[in-house]
Parts: sequence; C-alpha cells; structure tokens
Amino acid sequence: MEKIIRPESMERITTPELAQKFIEEQIAEIRTQVGNKKVLLALSGGVDSSVVAALLIKAIGKQLVCVHVNHGLMRKGESEQVIEVFGKALDANLIYIDATDRFLDLLAGVAEPEKKRKIIGGEFIKVFDEEAAKLEGIAFLAQGTIYPDILESDGVKAHHNVGGLPEDMQMELVEPVKLLFKDEVRVVGEALGLPHNMVYRQPFPGPGLGVRCLGAITRDRLHALREADAILREEFDKNGLAGKVWQYFIAVPDFKSVGVKDGKRYEGWAAIIRAVNTTDAMSATIEEIPYPMIHHITNRITHEVEGINRVMLDVTPKPVGTIEFE
Ligand code: XMP
Repeated sequence: MEKIIRPESMERITTPELAQKFIEEQIAEIRTQVGNKKVLLALSGGVDSSVVAALLIKAIGKQLVCVHVNHGLMRKGESEQVIEVFGKALDANLIYIDATDRFLDLLAGVAEPEKKRKIIGGEFIKVFDEEAAKLEGIAFLAQGTIYPDILESDGVKAHHNVGGLPEDMQMELVEPVKLLFKDEVRVVGEALGLPHNMVYRQPFPGPGLGVRCLGAITRDRLHALREADAILREEFDKNGLAGKVWQYFIAVPDFKSVGVKDGKRYEGWAAIIRAVNTTDAMSATIEEIPYPMIHHITNRITHEVEGINRVMLDVTPKPVGTIEFE
C-alpha cells in the first residue's frame, strides 16, 4: 500500500484565510476525483466526519449520501444536531437510521467491556453495510481520516471510525482531511460554517455511552446516564470550561446505593464525574473542578435525573486509571 506522508512544505492551517484556501483546493480536487459519481459517508457527527461532510456538500452537493447511524449510545441531542445541521441547514442527502433497538437488544446482559465494544463495532458495520447495499451507483467511500490516524498506523492504514467500516467495500476512498492535524480540521470546520460546539467538541469514543453505562447496559440506567451527562456538559459550558478541558463526562456503575427522599429510603444509582486533561490520551491529569460547581452539578443531577441519588468524583490520573472506565 502507498505510504501517505505530509509534505514538509505544507503550511499549517491556523487562520480562516488559510482554511479558505484549503477548502477551495479540496473542492477542486474532490470534483476531479469524483466527477458525477456518488459518494457515501458514515456521518457520526464527530469533528472529522462532520468536516468531511461539509466539504463534500460544498464540492458535490447531493452526490454525497450521508448515513447517520444512531446506535442508541449517543449523547443527548447529538443525532438531533446531525439532522438539524446536515439534513436541514446544509440540505444534505442524509439517511438517518435509528438502530437503537438493534444495538440495545444485542447488548442486553453483556457485561464484559471488550465484548460490548465488539458487538457495537460489528453491528455498526452491519447496519452501515445494509444501508449501502440499498443504494445504487455509489462509487466512492468518504472517510474522516486525519493525519494522526495515519501516523498511528505507520503511514499506510487510512482508516477511522466507530468500529471501522467494512473492509471489503469495493469503493475508492475520498479522504480530504487525511493530511491535517486535529487543530487544522477544526479551523477548516469553522471556516465551513459548522457550529462551534460541533467543531470544538470533546473526544467521544466510538462505542459512545456504551462504555460509560458500566457492566450490562439497561435502558433505564442508560437514560439516567445520558441525562446526567447532559447536565454536566451544560454546566461546563456555562462555566467556560467546554473546549478547555479535554474530556469530561459521567459514568454510571451498575450498583445501587441507599438514598433518602421525602423522608423515605430508596435505592438509586451513582453518577461518577470524570474530567481529565491530556495532550495525547496516553497519560492524563485531573481537572480540578471548583467545589461550588461540583455542589451545583450534584444538586442538579440528584434532583433532575430519575434514578440517581448519589454523585461521586473520580480523582484518578492516567496511569493508573484509563480515561474511560471500561
Ligand atoms: P482510555 O480509556 O484508554 O482512552 O484512557 C484513551 C482515549 O481513547 C478514547 N477511547 C476510545 N475511542 N473507541 C474509540 O473510538 C473506543 O473503544 C475507545 N476507548 C477509549 C477515550 O475516550 C480517550 O479519549
């Protein structure tokens, strides 16, 4: 396989002007590569696939077919934002598949983290494959591969996504941001007019909330996790920490503890807050969230989220704790 190397002469994209120049060059290149054929893209709503989608929409409009698979493990509002931004504002050719039941049925009773990951990755490929098979005349597969993906795989494997896309798809790849670093992809995303919170969103693992709803996932605990996580993100936003802290999220373990409400004892789950900083995700330090903020978040989660009666704070750096719990 051909080795992909970023030329040393390539200028870092740090300004809107440079981003604009890159966009124009890519539009021309994409049009030359694709001609009047159709291109398929798995659009997760993450930074990379969103920027690729926006670029391709500019270059070839409805020749791009975006498929957004909602595996039921997205954060609150994420799939809705994909529909809003791409389906409505950018008027893209978007196929939305709500596969929640398929994923959650398969995951029922599965507690082992790597088994959960395998199921989610495998099912994603299946759902995407099924959709691709229904479409006619697709000649290209677009991917949000970025340069660190290529570096990590020693310059040959150009590949990126939830659990990987079908290897056997006989389609030529379109990878317009494959020579860019993450910060450059973000500058390009802003220049393309994508929403700031989409372009600067924190990293989110492919298996999504699946690896944060610890142990065997149940729908009610997953729902509680999603709601608690939304509160945490809202409070980080309000306090100007969104975009500054690398990753901040809630995990909900599969045990209950006793709480008291309206004078009655009852059992509920615990929400664990984790907020870390890192540059490469290999090691990580703890973000020192101010205690008044923790009190406020605790108060909101325990009052607003059905089923959660306790909030805990994870203060473990990596190593020894990984960023995710599973
Ligand atoms: P850990 O938990 O290993 O995570 O310290 C390091 C970084 O990788 C992300 N992560 C994943 N990303 N699929 C992904 O796409 C996964 O299965 C997965 N597991 C962890 C994690 O969120 C962190 O940014």
